[in-house]
Amino acid sequence: AAIEKNGYDHFMLKEIFEQPQTIFDSLRGRLDLKHEQITLSGLDKISDKLQQANRIIIVACGTSWHAGLLAEYVIEELCRINVEVEYASEFRYRNPIITDKDVIIAISQSGETADTLVAMETAKKQGATIFGLVNVVGSSIARISDAGAYTHAGPEIGVASTKAFTAQLAVLYLMALKLAEIKQTISSETYQVLFDDLAKVPKYVQWVLDTQIDSIKRIANKYMDADDFLYLGRGYNFPIALEGALKLKEISYIHAEGYPAAEMKHGPIALVDEYLPVVFVATKDSYHEKIISNMQEIKARKGQVIAVVTEGDEVVTSLTEDTIAVPRVHEIIAPILSVIPLQLLSYYIGVGRGLDVDKPRNLAKSVTVE
Ligand code: G6P
Repeated sequence: AAIEKNGYDHFMLKEIFEQPQTIFDSLRGRLDLKHEQITLSGLDKISDKLQQANRIIIVACGTSWHAGLLAEYVIEELCRINVEVEYASEFRYRNPIITDKDVIIAISQSGETADTLVAMETAKKQGATIFGLVNVVGSSIARISDAGAYTHAGPEIGVASTKAFTAQLAVLYLMALKLAEIKQTISSETYQVLFDDLAKVPKYVQWVLDTQIDSIKRIANKYMDADDFLYLGRGYNFPIALEGALKLKEISYIHAEGYPAAEMKHGPIALVDEYLPVVFVATKDSYHEKIISNMQEIKARKGQVIAVVTEGDEVVTSLTEDTIAVPRVHEIIAPILSVIPLQLLSYYIGVGRGLDVDKPRNLAKSVTVE
């Protein structure tokens, strides 16, 4: 029964709409609201190792790698541990320097991605401690990990990952918060704010799904014939710009590039003309003024600006009519909300172009060969 489309046209749409539940399921039993505590038994198991770790190395591929990139920003900020994020395929082949003071976090929906699996084995042989963040119970990655946590996203059928990604983010947030608390690298005020925001994420995602679909469909319709898209974000929203661009490529076959917003002037800005839609992941954060000036730079070159904004942002809404809103939360939590409109945007563009969004050409749900 779990693999029926449940009235939705595609698995991808069904899975996008399941996210309030799957995020909730991934937090359930771990985020204890009554005692304001986080319980993650897998993390406890390697807690000593983690506290003494030289660094954390995150290995993953595809969308899971984007979750890893965001985790780098969040863990470094909250836990003050050095984090590196590696494409598993690059890491495994380049004779990486690893010691028994390194902790590896492997992130994988399927738990079967060959490159990620071998990257872990490589690190394990050199004495590193391996933590697996996996969706499929009993998968190869789960089995060879020293410790781990499951995302509870349920089976993901759509080839382009959606609900597995937000479930990964939910658990990575829990891990970062828990570790920050243990290491005492977080103030009790910040802990409180992040804890409360995280608990409300399922409700906020539901709000986006309930209120923003019409705008997203209108924007998808307006731009679905474009040949190229640029996705820009800064800070915590940079990994989301990458993920937005990946989703569009996978589902619509439109060429899309994700870039750090400030880096665009070193190349991508040369592409900007009246035919180029530029998607800004521009929720209110410490860099907000700066991303607004990036938008103005695009507009001055006649580029088309689409923006994911914090609800009630009048500055950005005065710059472009093509905005999609998400609720206001702490900037660290915002990315798990800002990705939702981008998943839907690629979905509606793919469907608008008449494509089989559940089974995009040339892609596999899980890549078990090199
Ligand atoms: C394939 C899938 C992607 C996924 C990636 C990593 O490319 O099409 O959706 O992000 O593999 O898969 P994993 O199962 O390791 O997360």
